[in-house]
Amino acid sequence: MKKYLVVGNPIAHSLSPELHNYWLRKNNIQGTYKKEEINSEDLKKLTTRIKDKEIFGANITVPFKREIISYLDELTSEAKTTQSVNTITLENNKIIGHNTDVKGFENAIKDTGYNLEEKKIFVLGAGGVVPSIIFALLKMKASVIVLSNRTRKKADYLKDYFTSVLAEDEIQKKIIINEWGDIPKFDVVINATSVGLKKDDKLNLDFSKVGKDKFFYDVIYNPAETNFLKNGKNLSNFTENGKKMFIYQAAESFKIWHNIKPEINDEVSKLLDQ
Ligand code: ATR
Repeated sequence: MKKYLVVGNPIAHSLSPELHNYWLRKNNIQGTYKKEEINSEDLKKLTTRIKDKEIFGANITVPFKREIISYLDELTSEAKTTQSVNTITLENNKIIGHNTDVKGFENAIKDTGYNLEEKKIFVLGAGGVVPSIIFALLKMKASVIVLSNRTRKKADYLKDYFTSVLAEDEIQKKIIINEWGDIPKFDVVINATSVGLKKDDKLNLDFSKVGKDKFFYDVIYNPAETNFLKNGKNLSNFTENGKKMFIYQAAESFKIWHNIKPEINDEVSKLLDQ
């Protein structure tokens, strides 16, 4: 029986086991996928457990996606550029760090049928998931990314970081920082803050003048419709939550570990309705 884990802190809320155990069963793979709450001190031991083949693979979640990197042997290019690892695996006795959030976001957006190419994207937040979103937006050829975070210096840091690691023609002065509360003209707005995780949470931002037919995307999927999305919808905009992104990042991890592309259908989607 091969063992897989998702580790983080806190971890009780994680729905990754629902998806992975479902796909393991569907594909007749003898394996288990569990969640484990860990602390920073446990990260090194986690990699030893993988080298010893006690565990065959792990997902890493908040707040360890960056911290895990110092214990890994190699990173894929996406993990390296985003400095964010959410999937680890053993290949030729080396622990490899992957980032499947980038692909998860890309696939989720593709599924909506919305083409981000040459679009102006307004990103709210500068936390753990934002480097993956920025990288995906650059890959999808967004024309401009306007970043805004309550704590401005974190947004400044991200801009400086991407400017330093990506080639000039990839960046083309694409990342701009706006003060929190300053709403630019945009085609797409992405809520990547944690505001909305609690049902009554509200962003203190005024979208009433942005016009209609924009795309409001929220990384949060539980609740399924945050106040941010409700607001977008009431103002006649197209909306989408982060459920598909979560499913696609899990599917990409599954593919890395089992070399099987798992099926994504309504039954899978319902597994996340709590
Ligand atoms: P971390 O910052 O530890 O990576 P996260 O959950 O990934 O945690 O990110 C939380 C994001 O939500 C941050 O961008 C945070 O803004 P700050 O950097 O200013 O803390 C944002 N956030 C949380 N509460 C917020 C609020 N009430 N208003 C606006 N932004 C908020």
